Amino acid sequence: QKTLKEAYKDYFPIGVAVAPRNLSGPEAELIVKQFSSVTPENAMKMGPIHPEPGRYNWQDADAIVAFAQKNGMKVRGHTLCWHNQTPKWFFTDDEGKQVSREVLLDRLKEHINNVVGRYKGKIYAWDVVNEAVPDTSSSIYRESKFFQIIGEDYIEKAFEFAHAADPDAQLFYNDYNTESALKREKIFRLLKKLKEKNVPVHGVGLQGHWSVYEPTAAELEKSITQFAGLGLVVQITELDVSVHPKEHERRQKKPTDSAMLTPEMTARQTAQYKMLFDVFRKHKGTLTGVTFWNVSDKSTWLDNFPVMGRKDYPLLFDQTYHPKPAYFQVTDF
Ligand code: G3I
Repeated sequence: QKTLKEAYKDYFPIGVAVAPRNLSGPEAELIVKQFSSVTPENAMKMGPIHPEPGRYNWQDADAIVAFAQKNGMKVRGHTLCWHNQTPKWFFTDDEGKQVSREVLLDRLKEHINNVVGRYKGKIYAWDVVNEAVPDTSSSIYRESKFFQIIGEDYIEKAFEFAHAADPDAQLFYNDYNTESALKREKIFRLLKKLKEKNVPVHGVGLQGHWSVYEPTAAELEKSITQFAGLGLVVQITELDVSVHPKEHERRQKKPTDSAMLTPEMTARQTAQYKMLFDVFRKHKGTLTGVTFWNVSDKSTWLDNFPVMGRKDYPLLFDQTYHPKPAYFQVTDF
């Protein structure tokens, strides 16, 4: 039986999102055996890595990079500019007043320069700007503090700062819901603008927080080919396949049966994973990486999201780290 990284050796790196707690014991063994790339799940985000003005907390990020280097794995950096997990101080002065465009741009530049600079040559790809496009409104730009204070060019500035700090790193725009027609179109327009202005953006990350019901192969392929048409590479950056129906969540915000992983649901999930990886392999060359968001069903960010007290089973390894049926479909082709 091939491991994930063996099966995909001639296609793309297979990555996994990790926290420092994953780097010892049975999870560390599984990570080293199966995966060829890691992404820090939280450790490089603004809040964790830059909690106060002038103070950086490198410990967790350094540990993850050292683990990857020791085990011959690649590292994807995540993420330099996001409206979430960014400390309040970033946007305010000593008196608590909102800072000016110039001050915020200076802070963004300093932050990106320090973080990207520290790992120069060790991180091959960065999610530079994350989730800047809103899901439903007609606007391309999410009303984040970065947008409100700096204006729409905060996005191109972030890419320019990252490129200056490490000219060899591949720079990504990263987002979720990239298969919905409205959001795909808006992200496309954003990326097209950036390319036309010669902004150093090299790829688009489709997060891939999917479910047994979505996306369809056609929707996914449409996104891959449309973005690739701009001369960008595509990576799947945060893959998981929830067993919970999104429709159900919208109508009924309460925990569903936690024994949701029935044989029928396992079969659906297996089929969905098979379809996804069939599409990924078909786009070899354009699709240059696939990263899972968390190691196993033992613990995933989807536990308690969006409904407290509800467990999810979205990954290829079960709660005791054993491969699930989907794993065999993904590695035998
Ligand atoms: O570190 C603190 C800890 O000190 C505190 O005691 C504890 C109490 O709640 O919280 C800890 O922080 C949590 C952190 O994860 C680390 O576990 C935050 O509350 C929690 O909000 C945070 O959630 C992360 C989430 O991003 C934040 O929005 C998830 O782990 C992480 O998987 C998730 O990842 C995002 C991607 O970055 C972007 N795309 C969507 C994806 C899923 O939401």
